[in-house]
Amino acid sequence: MLTARTVPDLRRFVRAWRRAGCSIGVVPTMGALHAGHLSLAAASRERADRSIVTLFVNPKQFNDTADLARYPRTEESDREKLAPYGIDLLFAPPPEVMYPAGFATNVSVSSVTDGLCGADRPGHFDGVATVVSKLLIQTGADFAFFGEKDYQQLTTIRRMVRDLDLPVEIVGCPTVRDPDGLALSSRNALLSPEERACAPALHRALTAAAERLRKGEDAGCLADAAAGIAAAGFDAVDYVELRDAEDLVPMQRLDRPARLLAAAHLGRARLIDNIPVEPAARNSSDRRNRRGN
Ligand code: PAF
Repeated sequence: MLTARTVPDLRRFVRAWRRAGCSIGVVPTMGALHAGHLSLAAASRERADRSIVTLFVNPKQFNDTADLARYPRTEESDREKLAPYGIDLLFAPPPEVMYPAGFATNVSVSSVTDGLCGADRPGHFDGVATVVSKLLIQTGADFAFFGEKDYQQLTTIRRMVRDLDLPVEIVGCPTVRDPDGLALSSRNALLSPEERACAPALHRALTAAAERLRKGEDAGCLADAAAGIAAAGFDAVDYVELRDAEDLVPMQRLDRPARLLAAAHLGRARLIDNIPVEPAARNSSDRRNRRGN
């Protein structure tokens, strides 16, 4: 696996691959890689001729300096984890390469960043959009891979790429879960054994709420999901919400494809999760369409 730490070095490798007619995939990460990230690396390897993983803890998307300071920096073990995945290049720039003195540009995406995690983390999605637009331009990738676990982030990036006509296909990949349902996240490492035991309640609450919505209840039933998460031992619930799957507009009833999203605090970790939810009638008509009748 090659390593680049500056944009000219990165572009030298990319130019050589382009001359050889190769397509390029990129997996943007902040490191501390787990099986969720590795599934993105595998998806890139499958889809593109050459794959780049980027490793950069982006200060612009942290609104809490203590959170930024304690974010794990684990380049050597990340490199070892990536070794079996056939990744061609690790792009691990230092902060001054990404944000040189005098850096003054901000990429800001509205509407899809309203509410949900946007409410609690002012400036977070601007930081994500700014760094991801830089990484997409720096790598010139044909495909970029992001996890559905960060669904509002994925939607924000899709909207940015569409609005700015960036020539890249954004590929959303399914959330990877532990067998008890907990979505993999670098933040899970902050949980004590007791907190880890109660963490799957977040996914269980979403699954149960999705069933009630499919049976025809309205979004009022999500208050029970929030209460269930709190009763399971979470310290505070930020939101449990039903949103349109494409534009994240809030929904009262399950009358079109939607996403059910939640965020809650457990000890030192703020956990997020989401699942797709579709109206029951649409599921059966989809099944008929897939069968071809
Ligand atoms: O999801 C992440 O790890 C980060 O938000 C990303 C997309 C790498 C941007 O820093």
